[in-house]
Amino acid sequence: MTVRVGVIGTGIMGADHAGTLDRQVSGATVTMVADLDLGRARDLAAAMPGVEATDDGFALIGDPAVDAVVVASADATHADLTLAAIEAGKPVLCEKPLAPTLPECLRVVTAERATAGAGGPSLVSVGFMRRFDPGYQELKSALEAGACGTPLLLHCVSRGVGSAPGSTSESSVVGSAIHEFDTVPWLLDARIVEVSWHAPRSTAAVPGMQDPQLILLRTADGALTTVEVFLNARYGYDIRCEVVGDRGTLALTNPARMVADADRRRAVGYPADWRPRFADAYRAELQAFIDAIAAGRPSILATARDGLVATAVAEAVIASMHDGGRTVAVELPELDPTAG
Ligand code: NAI
Repeated sequence: MTVRVGVIGTGIMGADHAGTLDRQVSGATVTMVADLDLGRARDLAAAMPGVEATDDGFALIGDPAVDAVVVASADATHADLTLAAIEAGKPVLCEKPLAPTLPECLRVVTAERATAGAGGPSLVSVGFMRRFDPGYQELKSALEAGACGTPLLLHCVSRGVGSAPGSTSESSVVGSAIHEFDTVPWLLDARIVEVSWHAPRSTAAVPGMQDPQLILLRTADGALTTVEVFLNARYGYDIRCEVVGDRGTLALTNPARMVADADRRRAVGYPADWRPRFADAYRAELQAFIDAIAAGRPSILATARDGLVATAVAEAVIASMHDGGRTVAVELPELDPTAG
């Protein structure tokens, strides 16, 4: 069975996902792309023979030539498009965040639960692709094998070359740090129970935006995580993670694939953004999404509920930001534990 995929949003991430599905994922074919900017959708479709372009994401979801949907449009559009896919009964991979606010996430989780047949596969997957990154997977396996003993501290770093136009202190949390809010509980198998937000003096790169930020996460197992988010670090896209245990440490290595020796110097390069760094993860994530649909089994990607939990952490961090770095408990709405 070939799964016919429609991609909504043909900006940086949507174009990347469409290209990966088209060239590197087996069992999938892209049939339609949608973007409010029809010219952008058409440009992408022109590079992929047989692909239709539209400016209406909801029309794409309803189109009989689309079996499954990838939502890679602006964050604020995720909930409504994902809800439409649920209503159409089509599997949907929604990019992170599932939605920027908790009430929107709750609507998605509730709708998915209401429409999922008893024992049937959940329709919603969320694009927390670090779960598919070979480095993070090795780190998780080593942790589970007790390679550093009991985890006590985690140090997570997300640095980028420059923030997107319109970025704010808050969008830095809900758009970037949110990856850590999924990765840390996934690595430790322990939920984040309280958070606090801290700020040094800021780079002058973006007036009015606090950058870098330092976020502390306490997980239910008693471990403490530091998250540095620095979107205008300039030198490159750089993701780090170190786990300090009571018997040793585990850390991601810089995954550069090449080293250059010249002019009496040894150098490795940094990517300019996330696409090269996580190319393997995006490919594996999309392949897993398609394989589950083709086999009629549940997706192994992050669930709608995982998306909701990450947004709940982001909201708590922003509450701390707005309240002088106060420690804030992460409150989760009452959910059926089997939901999402
Ligand atoms: P972008 O700004 O390059 O592209 C977004 C596109 O969505 C634009 O072309 C815009 O016209 C279109 N769009 C906006 N509203 C729409 C609607 N209602 N219907 C159809 N199209 C609409 O943004 P980018 O970087 O591609 O991000 C897209 C999504 O992917 C965001 O939610 C972002 O948070 C997520 N993302 C995920 C990453 C990951 O590592 N998993 C990395 C980067 C982005």
